[in-house]
Amino acid sequence: MPKITDLIKKMSLEEKAALCTGAGPWTTTPVEHLDIPEMTVTDGPHGVRRVQDVHHTFISASVPATCFPTAACMASTWDVDLIHKLGEALAWECIALKVDVLLGPGANMKRTPLCGRNFEYYSEDPYLAGEMAASFIKGVQSKGVGTSLKHFAANNQEYQRSTISSEVDERTFREIYLPAFEAAVNKAKPWTVMCSYNKINGTYAAENHQLLTEILKEEWGFEGLVVSDWGAVHDRVEALKAGLDLEMPGPRDLRVKAVIEAVRSGELRESVLDESVRRILEIVFKAAETKKGGAFDVLRHHALARRVAGEGMVLLKNNGILPLKEQKHIAVIGRAAQEAYFQGGGSSHINPTQVDNPCAELQKLAGDTRLSYSEGYLNDEDFDQSLIDEAVKNARSAEVALLYICLPSTKESEGYDRLDLDLTSHQVGLINAVTAAQPNTVVILNNGAPVVMSEWINGTAAVLEAWMMGQAGGGAIADVLYGKVNPSGKLAETFPLKLVDTPAYINYPGENGAVHYGEGIFMGYRYYDAKEVPTLFPFGYGMSYTTFDYQNPKVSSQTFRDVDGLTVSVDVTNTGKVTGKEVIQVYVHDHESRLVRPPKELKGFAKVELQPGETKTVTVPLDFRAFAYYHPAYKQWITEDGEFDILIGASSADIRCTQTVTLHSTLELPSILNRESTLREWTEDPRGMSALAPLYQQMVDQMRATMGGGDHIGMDPMGFLTDTPLIGVFHFLGSSITTSPQKTVDELLAKVYSADLITA
Ligand code: BGC
Repeated sequence: MPKITDLIKKMSLEEKAALCTGAGPWTTTPVEHLDIPEMTVTDGPHGVRRVQDVHHTFISASVPATCFPTAACMASTWDVDLIHKLGEALAWECIALKVDVLLGPGANMKRTPLCGRNFEYYSEDPYLAGEMAASFIKGVQSKGVGTSLKHFAANNQEYQRSTISSEVDERTFREIYLPAFEAAVNKAKPWTVMCSYNKINGTYAAENHQLLTEILKEEWGFEGLVVSDWGAVHDRVEALKAGLDLEMPGPRDLRVKAVIEAVRSGELRESVLDESVRRILEIVFKAAETKKGGAFDVLRHHALARRVAGEGMVLLKNNGILPLKEQKHIAVIGRAAQEAYFQGGGSSHINPTQVDNPCAELQKLAGDTRLSYSEGYLNDEDFDQSLIDEAVKNARSAEVALLYICLPSTKESEGYDRLDLDLTSHQVGLINAVTAAQPNTVVILNNGAPVVMSEWINGTAAVLEAWMMGQAGGGAIADVLYGKVNPSGKLAETFPLKLVDTPAYINYPGENGAVHYGEGIFMGYRYYDAKEVPTLFPFGYGMSYTTFDYQNPKVSSQTFRDVDGLTVSVDVTNTGKVTGKEVIQVYVHDHESRLVRPPKELKGFAKVELQPGETKTVTVPLDFRAFAYYHPAYKQWITEDGEFDILIGASSADIRCTQTVTLHSTLELPSILNRESTLREWTEDPRGMSALAPLYQQMVDQMRATMGGGDHIGMDPMGFLTDTPLIGVFHFLGSSITTSPQKTVDELLAKVYSADLITA
């Protein structure tokens, strides 16, 4: 790698400005006389979408590449090692297709199940999404190919995605919308981070200094380059100042000129431009170190796609009909059985190397069993009774009916959200008619995000959530139905009973250009738990063909310091008859905290494979952050002394063991008392209480005396004044305590902030 600082010195202002905007739709600007090569980037995230002519074509048929399962399916595997392998395979395809940086993964939270792009995102839980994103990035980058962690940040809907302002309070932003990005940046060091289109609290992500510079680069130490989402930059100079290094796509001569003029006029410091140039050059030369070209192993990657799909599918319901036994005749109903529905619309849309036909793959495992196919429904919302009648006839003549159901193919896409969570009314009619005629009906769903099922689930014998499952998903469905793969996927998002139950329902999609994240930190299962809202299937849920027993929960220490963390272990036994995998989930519940907290939060998990009768001890570490919450007044993650429950479960709603532990906080928090602080805040603050102590008993006595013990007005005098500012309490008590409440409070504050008291 050449010395970047020397190179920057040799570059003209024009060259530096040009480098910070793409040369074409997918390439950066080369500087030939200095041997600065161009760099090719391309989508992402679950396959390589590389157009033939990266220099001139924005959208065209892309070259064939493996379409792996979408992120929704990947996350449901809860298998970080497998996602690492998937990342490695993607890197080999990038190398073969001459791509330097893959535009993924997407680490945005699934705030509402309506978001059109949810299939590209992992989870409603920041911890799970962060682990998945980190593993994906490590996998890709282990082969010398870069990634782009996107879309940073609070891009949780497609509705008005390029203008909407996500109005999110600081604590919610820190605890829900940032941690997946933070974990991925810290653990996996992505080469690039892509800023989102939207505004955050009124400022475009592309021009958001707090987001791109203060949080991402300074606080998290991100060393790579920040790239814009395609067309997300509004003011190039402001974006550079905010920390947006590379604008894509190009060419954009006017933008380059604007940067040159801004430097010449003094509006933009050249050092700011140089810093972006440095970051871009570091990545461009790092990318050039990986030799590109060759071929990738199409069949091996297809097989890997099948494996991931099988591990990510979630068995939602099973009355024992699955795995399929030896049937003579199975009715296979639904066009998704002949034409696999395996990916969503938009920039992630891959031109697959090959696609499994689900019905043909099923026949391979079904052996002599006769499969009879009916189309069942059309690829739109139209109702056609004759298709239902034919399907019913088919189902009735067989021993089992398999109903392959997918949403109309343009319903889930980048660029727009779904309007509802429903299957088409024709499909609901079809399922109800078929299940009425054939009780042994299994519904296989292909979709990228939850659908509601109340209208039809009761009649089914089993339901398999097969997601947008990638090009080999047809085979993976057969594997699961026949028990070649024992299902082990668990939901990375809650399936609600109905749309109105969802946490963001009354704060979506926003109006007047803004969407208010009114549910705050209570998003996903945090909301359903807190409000005790019943769900169709809870977060973390998924069935298996075997059963697991949890015994002997242990913690490394009953009392511990926050900085030391804890290790949790539990013995898990396969108590059934077939080999299977279990996802053990560890949630943390805080008994008491100064700020409100969700009833439980996922802080660790592990996936293990167990033979029948086998027991393994599963160990999950919990660190400082597992117990901390973000306190906006302190502007930091804090812990508080006290008890926590460690909940070990098979889902968020199926907690098998609980251990209670006591945390000692090592934090020396500064005081945050001010003139408006209430009596309660003073007494809860150790320095405040120590300053107030000489006056305190007198105040209490005076309060009781002033209010006659509270009897006359039926209240507890202390309760009455506890949440009143101290200054107001002094006013209320009159001159018996102090003649100048303001002066007294100021003196107390001076004591609180004096070094004496701090060291006392
Ligand atoms: C999408 C990005 C994508 C980019 C390039 C944008 O519209 O939001 O996810 O990487 O286009 O295709």
